[in-house]
Amino acid sequence: MKAIKVGLLGIGTVGSGTFQVLRRNQEEIRGRAGRGIEIAMVADLDLARAKSIAGDACEVVDDARKVIANPEIDIVVELIGGYGVAKTLVLEAIAAGKHVVTANKALLAVHGTEIFAAAHAKGVIVAFEAAVAGGIPIIKALREGLTANRIEWIAGIINGTTNFILSEMRSKGLDFGVVLKEAQRLGYAEADPTFDIEGVDAAHKATIMSAIAFGIPVQFDKAHVEGITKLQAADIKYAEQLGYRIKLLGIARRREAGIELRVHPTLIPAQRLIANVEGAMNAVLVQADAVGTTLYYGKGAGSEPTASAVVADLVDITRLHTADPEHRVPHLAFRPDAMSDTPILPMAQVATSFYLRLVVADQAGVLSRITTILAEHDISIDAVLQRESGEGEKQTDLIILTHETLEGRMDKALTQMQALETVLAPIVRIRKEELA
Ligand code: NDP
Ligand code: HSE
Repeated sequence: MKAIKVGLLGIGTVGSGTFQVLRRNQEEIRGRAGRGIEIAMVADLDLARAKSIAGDACEVVDDARKVIANPEIDIVVELIGGYGVAKTLVLEAIAAGKHVVTANKALLAVHGTEIFAAAHAKGVIVAFEAAVAGGIPIIKALREGLTANRIEWIAGIINGTTNFILSEMRSKGLDFGVVLKEAQRLGYAEADPTFDIEGVDAAHKATIMSAIAFGIPVQFDKAHVEGITKLQAADIKYAEQLGYRIKLLGIARRREAGIELRVHPTLIPAQRLIANVEGAMNAVLVQADAVGTTLYYGKGAGSEPTASAVVADLVDITRLHTADPEHRVPHLAFRPDAMSDTPILPMAQVATSFYLRLVVADQAGVLSRITTILAEHDISIDAVLQRESGEGEKQTDLIILTHETLEGRMDKALTQMQALETVLAPIVRIRKEELA
């Protein structure tokens, strides 16, 4: 049977990895897919660099629309990134009846509803395994492997750049800026690295997973997004003393009233496997009713790990593209007519426990005033740690771990505590998850 023809839009970090993996493993891939998969055309703005990667094996152009317009091309792989031209090209490829593979989580988290509807109407597949956790087949696991289950929650380290930064800062005492540059050099970071460090990239991925896990539309605009730029070394140290590690977690949790969708630095007990995921590695923990807890671990970024997921999607489409569209696995796991309108909860209704660090005057009665405020808001304390103050020092750090409470209650308690004269600096609040 003749090879399926692929057109690649963008041959940067992931595009070049895709090219190499397909070329190196072509025989095995043919054996699995039932026919060859051949990159027949590449479009990239940098023609010279694209040609140096693709060689003479395929046609290289600088206009992506030439790839879409080519009737020989069966699958368009979008590896440009961003919400701009990538969105236009993906919609044009769908309109032209091409199947699409993309690693672009930003695009799907924000415009997924429109893109999946267009694909459904046209009877083509939009595959996106590489968009979440790079090389880890988490989309396949959530959509197919766990299909028997009611998923209760997902918590993941789903941004390699920030995990790399946190790990290097903690283990080597390196400076934030230095480690970020290294992450950029290694090809982990987004074109705009603020997407990584401010939690936006992780929120894109959490949004996509929430849709697949709970059968809701992608709703990035309702996600709570907090990055790692405000984290202080003191809190990483205190967390360790209390037996916790701080990780940037993406969390999607089903509650009675709705879905929690949030990304923020989180204290996790140091003995949990996920707390020990270091460097650019990703890990996703899924709690589901039948199977219990499962953990997916691997490289979440980089050229060939991400290409591994792109090529897996190419093989899937090659196997499935002749199947009746009604009998394919739905894009977001649930059939469009079975999607739910369960709301995403506002942060005030999110239930979590907290780490608080207060810089307080070192005098009698301070702790009791603070614990009284917490009690008035029905917030129960799990542990308290007070730094021993040095000779002549008039202030100290007070660390409080709470049990689970509603974020809205904590907001009110924090406002009252912050107003105390004996609280001398803005209170640090980091959420804590036991992930038991
Ligand atoms: P790169 O920036 O390395 O590659 C993008 C390529 O697209 C560049 O070569 C760029 O050319 C080219 N390009 C830009 N505009 C156009 C256009 N209009 N037509 C054709 N080519 C164009 O990005 P990555 O490979 O890192 O990322 C690609 C996608 O994969 C993104 O959506 C990203 O979020 C996602 N992703 C990346 C991962 C990673 O580890 N890097 C992991 C998982 C997902 P030029 O450089 O000349 O602008
Ligand atoms: N910038 C992303 C990360 C790439 O660091 O995880 C993988 O999606």
